Amino acid sequence: MTAAQIPDQLNVLLIGTGGREHALAWRLCQSPHMGTLWVESTANAALLELGSPCPEEFSLKRKYYLERWLVQEKIGFIVIGPEGPLSDGMVDALASPERPIFGPTRAAARLEWDKAYAKSLMRQTSIPTAEGRVCTTLNAALAYVTERDEPCVVKATGLCAGKGVSVCGNKEEAIAAVRRCMEQREFGAAGDSVVIEERLEGQEVSVLALVDGKTITLLDTVQDHKQVGEGDTGPNTGGMGAFCPTPLLSDADLQAVARDVFVPAIDGLRRQGIEFRGVLFAGLMLTAAGPKVLEFNCRFGDPETQVLMARFQGDLLKTLWLTATGRLDEVEFSFDPLTSCCVVVCSEGYPGKCATGRSIKGLIPLKDYDLKRAKSMMFHGATKQEKTGKKHAEILTTGGRTIGVTCLGDGLAAATASATECASGVEFKGAFFRHDIGFRVLRQRQTTSHTTSHTTR
Ligand code: AMP
Ligand code: GLY
Repeated sequence: MTAAQIPDQLNVLLIGTGGREHALAWRLCQSPHMGTLWVESTANAALLELGSPCPEEFSLKRKYYLERWLVQEKIGFIVIGPEGPLSDGMVDALASPERPIFGPTRAAARLEWDKAYAKSLMRQTSIPTAEGRVCTTLNAALAYVTERDEPCVVKATGLCAGKGVSVCGNKEEAIAAVRRCMEQREFGAAGDSVVIEERLEGQEVSVLALVDGKTITLLDTVQDHKQVGEGDTGPNTGGMGAFCPTPLLSDADLQAVARDVFVPAIDGLRRQGIEFRGVLFAGLMLTAAGPKVLEFNCRFGDPETQVLMARFQGDLLKTLWLTATGRLDEVEFSFDPLTSCCVVVCSEGYPGKCATGRSIKGLIPLKDYDLKRAKSMMFHGATKQEKTGKKHAEILTTGGRTIGVTCLGDGLAAATASATECASGVEFKGAFFRHDIGFRVLRQRQTTSHTTSHTTR
């Protein structure tokens, strides 16, 4: 029997409302197999320009209605962007042979929604990671941080939109972080237990791989910038900017990461009877003792996806469909040799409470998004279109990470310079962004070239 072919025209539902989904939607719509794209009715302005709004709410409480609508609109494929629907079991509830879903089941996505589980799987499969302990009571956590001499990191075990991690410089900070999680319950039930681990030093790199249960295909590496302030200062965010590829891992290093991290993780799940299909994303720290895993995510990253999609060359819809149907070995795609950089323009107050409803100026008209022609791609994160009574509809801010300005360049310095310049053209009251995306690698290069010229003189 021959394997099913991707239908000529596939109606696709894309779940998720932010910048990652705009980047995915942009590439999905370039596929000759794309029929109608449907997006959430609460999606950002750009997504609602590319897709039709789905009238149903994406809640499993409304599974019956959602399923009826999926049949009525002949939806043949669902792509899930964010972690929430994966941890809710959206794939388990809605996937069928006629309607595959790109994304892992709830059991496989546990690698992301339960950091204690991820830690235990890493330990069982000897995946290199920070040494640490899971504490399920306040007293145990306080005793552990008090007895430790080295600086540590306190992590709520559940999903916290990238904000449940405290990197602590001393015991007092660690005690305060534990209390915030377990006593004041800042992250609700997600912080009822914590992982406390050694604080690692090094550069970070995001390695994402497509996985279909048996085949693992690594994508080009990305560096994200988690902290809100320039020079990596201030609180953690969902990600302030990224570039791709990074020079941080050679092909041989990447093969070692595949062998030591991805293969054992997928095999470890399989031994528990769990098949992983979708994207597995390892957040790595490149320590003096080699790469160590900080976290696993079970979805595309944001803003990692913006820089990956800017360089992706191929049919994204077919790629994701073949991955979801277990035929990743048939996929063909490549990445543009240029470097991409994304600078995220944020709203005043982010990552805390943000001002919203501000009118955005300087955006490229949504219909003109051609990266090579337009110089920059403006991926919408938190926007909406205001149509009331105005001749030209305005685009307003609705949240923190508003626009991911993404440019291609010949090398990192050129790509970051363009993205930073284009980001300053996006204007709204209280807008801010980091001007130093890529600084660690650029600084390292400068130091290396100074050292070289010194020693050869
Ligand atoms: P996570 O959500 O676990 O990736 O953590 C968010 C961020 O916290 C990471 O991107 C790192 O910047 C930092 N972080 C997490 N774990 C550690 C660690 N063990 N040592 C140092 N920094 C860490
Ligand atoms: N940028 C980090 C993440 O998506 O988790």
